[in-house]
This record gives sequence, C-alpha cells and structure tokens, in this order.
Amino acid sequence: MAVSSKFLLFTALLFFLFASPSLQASFRPKALVLPVSKDASTNQYVTQIKQRTPLVPVKLTLDLGGEFLWVDCDQGYVSSSYMPARCNSAQCSLARSKSCGSCFDGPKPGCNNNTCGLPPANTVTRTATGGEVAQDVVSVQSTNGKNPGQVVSVPKFLFTCGSTFLLEGLASGVKGMAGLGRTKISMSSQFAAAFSFHRKFAVCLSSSSSSNGVVFFGDGPYAFLPNNIDISQSLIYTPLILNPVSTAPAYFEGEPSADYFIGVKGIKINGKAVQLNNTLLSINKEGHGGTKISTVTPYTVMETSIYRAVVNAFIKAISQIPRVPAVAPFSACFKAKSFGSTRVGPAVPQIDLVLQSKDVIWTIFGANSMVQVSNDVLCLGFVDGGLEPTTSIVIGGYQIEHNLLQFDLATSRLGFTSSLLFRQTTCSNFNFTSTA
Ligand SMILES: *[C@@H]1O[C@H](CO)[C@@H](O)[C@H](O)[C@H]1NC(C)=O
Ligand SMILES: *[C@@H]1O[C@H](CO)[C@@H](O)[C@H](O)[C@H]1NC(C)=O
Ligand SMILES: *[C@@H]1O[C@H](CO)[C@@H](O)[C@H](O)[C@H]1NC(C)=O
Repeated sequence: MAVSSKFLLFTALLFFLFASPSLQASFRPKALVLPVSKDASTNQYVTQIKQRTPLVPVKLTLDLGGEFLWVDCDQGYVSSSYMPARCNSAQCSLARSKSCGSCFDGPKPGCNNNTCGLPPANTVTRTATGGEVAQDVVSVQSTNGKNPGQVVSVPKFLFTCGSTFLLEGLASGVKGMAGLGRTKISMSSQFAAAFSFHRKFAVCLSSSSSSNGVVFFGDGPYAFLPNNIDISQSLIYTPLILNPVSTAPAYFEGEPSADYFIGVKGIKINGKAVQLNNTLLSINKEGHGGTKISTVTPYTVMETSIYRAVVNAFIKAISQIPRVPAVAPFSACFKAKSFGSTRVGPAVPQIDLVLQSKDVIWTIFGANSMVQVSNDVLCLGFVDGGLEPTTSIVIGGYQIEHNLLQFDLATSRLGFTSSLLFRQTTCSNFNFTSTA
C-alpha cells in the first residue's frame, strides 16, 4: 500500500514536471506590448523590458533604426543565464558578426574569450565601441491588442554588450538602446521569430512625459480608448526602401542600412509644391540622400536647400503673421496667439509629404509641425541639417508623435495614420491595465 502511494506521488510529480513547461509553451502570444515614455530633458523615447536571471527591469532608449538591443554590461550586469556567443556559432552568423574576440579582464558578462563581436552604438551621440554578442532571458507582456496580458519570456534573446561610457547622452536611468531596425537580430525580428508571429511592429509615440505611448510587436488589432478603436484597420501604405549602405555610426563593410527609409517624392505646403532638388530625395550609390524615420532625432532634420525651401514656403503661406526672433534650433518663430487652435493643433498650413503617387500623402498638421518653445512663442519644428548630411530628410520624433506607424518587414512597407488626434484618440490611449 505504502509503496503504491509513493509511486502515485512520483508519477503525479513527473506529470507535473512534464506538464507545466508544455502548458507554458502552449501559450503563444499573437502580439507583445511595451510602454514608451518621453524623457522631457533629452526628448528621447524610453521603454523598459525585463532581462536576466533573476529578472530585472532595464530602461532603454528606443531606436527605431537601431540594429539590435545593446545594454551596459560593465556595471551591474548580474545574471546566471548570461551566455556569450561563441565564435562561428549560429548566433554569430545570425548577427552577421565578422569578428572573433578575446578579453583579459574576465570572464564576466561582456568579457569572454572566443566570442563574436558587434559594434554597439549610441545613435544619439553617434559614438560606438566594440562589444561581445551574447544571449540572455528577456521578458515582456503579451497583448490581445486591447490590454496587456500574460508575461512571456524569450530565453535566449540575442543582444550586444555595451560599455558604461556609451550611455553618455542617453536619458537618465537608461542602460542601453532598444534597436528595432531592419536586421535579423533587431528586437522586432527576434520577437517575431520567437513566437512565430507576423514580422510586423507598430510604434505610437506620446508627446507627453507623463503618459505612455506604446510599441506593439506583431499584427493588430491596435486598440485605443475611448472606444477601443482598432487603428490597424485604417492605415495608408507606402513601400519601405532599403538603403544598401549602412547609416550606422560603425558597421562592417558591405552591410545595408538598418534604418527605415521611405520614398518622399515631394513636399507641399498648403497644397502647393515646394521646389526641391530631386536628386537629394533619392538614395545614391554611396547610400547618401533619401528620407528616413528616426526616434533618436527629436525634430525633423533637412539638408540645407530643402530646409530653406520648406521654411520659406511656410513663411510665405502665412505672410500676414508677424515673426518673432528665432529660438534655436528653429528659425521660423511666431507669436503663439496669432494662430487659432484646432483638434490637430495650431491652425497652420498643412505640410504634405508626397509619397509613391500624388494620392499617397502623409500630412503633417500643426500639432506635429509647431513646437511651443515658450508660453507665447511657437516655432516651425524643423532643423537645418547642413549641406552634406548622409540622409537628406530625417523625420524626427516630434513629427511622428500621436501618429501610429506600422513597419511590415515581410512585405517591406510602412503603414501610417497621420495624426490620431483627428480620430479623437492619441498614442497615450492604449489601455495599459493588465488582464493577466
Ligand atoms: C582569455 O585567454 C587568455 C590567453 O589564454 C587568458 O590570459 C585570459 O585570462 C582569458 N580571458 C578570459 C576572459 O577567459
Ligand atoms: C542637387 O543636388 C545634387 C546632390 O547634392 C548636386 O550635385 C546638384 O548640384 C544639385 N542641383 C542643383 C540644381 O542644385
Ligand atoms: C481598461 O481595461 C480594463 C481591463 O480590461 C477594464 O476593466 C477597464 O474598464 C478599461 N478602461 C477603460 C477606460 O475602458
């Protein structure tokens, strides 16, 4: 009798041991969600994941065109599940690393022998260093598109070890950067691969440091309050363009750019085409020119001739409104009370980015074009990028706030909404109340 009950207990235990991991594995999320806040002093967009064993929260600056996740491994990286990527392993080839390194100060996270390396980069200050490629547990919340749900983990999430000095210029408390770019090892690609969901993700940035915007990994619904309106149903699409030459601060020769480029063919202000040098709008053999979207550039930056043409056309369109002294980095500033207000911000001329055809237009309204620099001054929120910038137009964070952008890596297209304020919602209206 005693023997048989022990046996029963044993089988029950075995069943439990076998069943519990498979039960967990059977929950396959359709999408994941991360909150994103705006850091008021740097204008960076900051998100948070959990990483390591035991799990700790890690704050990261969001880098839409970043090649991968990197974190500071010099200070405070403690984890029993840290695994460096050995030279010539499958991980190193996925990461397209072409280097194999040694380290004399270790072994410890970020410093092991016979590991492959990549150059982690602070794309805000455009500083890079060498770092070892590694894997560790990353954990985030899943979502049904309306609320966050069960927390899920990726046990062997690839990332690169950065150094403490690389954090200089990043928002306070940040320990690395969350790269969502066009690579196999960007966070967006790895999440899609880990849970076999659509290679799509969406970014919706909030303009306020006190309310969270959101990043979704996976397909819609992307629901926003008040009515859980599914924004994924109303996107306008334009092709994403691959720049064959890397635009990263440091890279291996022959690497394409991880940045998301779109084909801006022209710019209209108040419906009138602005005269631009079209050569600058396309990407040349050296990878120069074209238009990309960046979350580490606070305001849209334009090559000087484009900048001047756009600013002059804008000033001309509101010539009756007196200007006030410029407030750097902007040049066209006005008395705030000269403008009426609308649902989509100050009543100013619309700025249209004309895409693949004259009917596909990304319209920038006052909320995304005018920056309130003081109580009574509003400035046109574009910045002069000088005569020979690598990329002619860099659409910055301010211009994409409260716009939802969906990046589809499988079909290489961007879905965009223009301002959500028109739909009486905002990027801070995802319901972060968890159902799990
Ligand atoms: C790497 O190998 C070198 C030479 O054998 C040795 O001196 C060093 O301590 C090793 N470093 C690590 C991190 O194991
Ligand atoms: C247009 O830009 C290209 C590339 O910078 C330059 O070589 C060319 O001279 C410019 N054309 C005009 C008319 O300014
Ligand atoms: C947010 O979601 C929670 C959980 O589903 C729900 O109870 C709550 O009513 C929602 N909030 C609003 C404002 O709809």
